Amino acid sequence: MPQIRKVETRDAAPLSVLMEQTFRDTFAAMNTPRNMLIHCQASYSHAIQSREIRDPSVETLVSEHDGQLVGFAQLHGAACPASTQAARPFEIQRLYVARAWHGKGVAQELMREIIGSATSHGADLAWLGVWENNPRAIAFYEKHGFAQAGSHVFLVGLDPQRDLLMTRLIDPA
Ligand SMILES: CC(C)(COP(=O)(O)OP(=O)(O)OC[C@H]1O[C@@H](n2cnc3c(N)ncnc32)[C@H](O)[C@@H]1OP(=O)(O)O)[C@@H](O)C(=O)NCCC(=O)NCCS
Repeated sequence: MPQIRKVETRDAAPLSVLMEQTFRDTFAAMNTPRNMLIHCQASYSHAIQSREIRDPSVETLVSEHDGQLVGFAQLHGAACPASTQAARPFEIQRLYVARAWHGKGVAQELMREIIGSATSHGADLAWLGVWENNPRAIAFYEKHGFAQAGSHVFLVGLDPQRDLLMTRLIDPA
């Protein structure tokens, strides 16, 4: 089974490759090549993920198997959607698992660890945005206690898409 650990500086290059691969695997069939390219160029590169790894407001966990990254989750101490009230909200910014590892518990482990991390930071609420056309992820988040609490617009390239906002209360540590 893959093991979860905190991201390290040396992960920037393989992490950027995994991020782009998982984004394309998930969304390429439902978006134009141009919008995918614009999004990927703006979001994934050695330099971009290096900056994220250095950013103290972003916490990244990676899941590794036989020296290969197979999943990741990112937590961000970010403002809460207006539709909910929380004193210390944390956003699960990204949670992706390589396709070969779907349905095998890797995502559950990442979710458990990232919620544990939010809890240890004193979070009282976790929230995230998920594309309305991503039923597997929505089912996954519902299974982990998230419920819809509004929506917002998320740009993929030049395409404004509707993301569901989902929230989950966090018990104090
Ligand atoms: C979302 C993700 C992290 C979930 O991990 P996973 O290992 O696939 O999770 P699960 O196998 O527990 O699947 C979640 C639920 O969705 C259900 N599901 C599976 N395929 C589905 C589909 N095509 N449509 C709707 N529901 C589906 C499963 O049945 C499961 O529920 P169950 O345990 O009650 O049967 C993973 O699929 C992933 O990395 N997807 C691509 C990236 C992504 O979409 N990330 C989220 C962006 S916001």
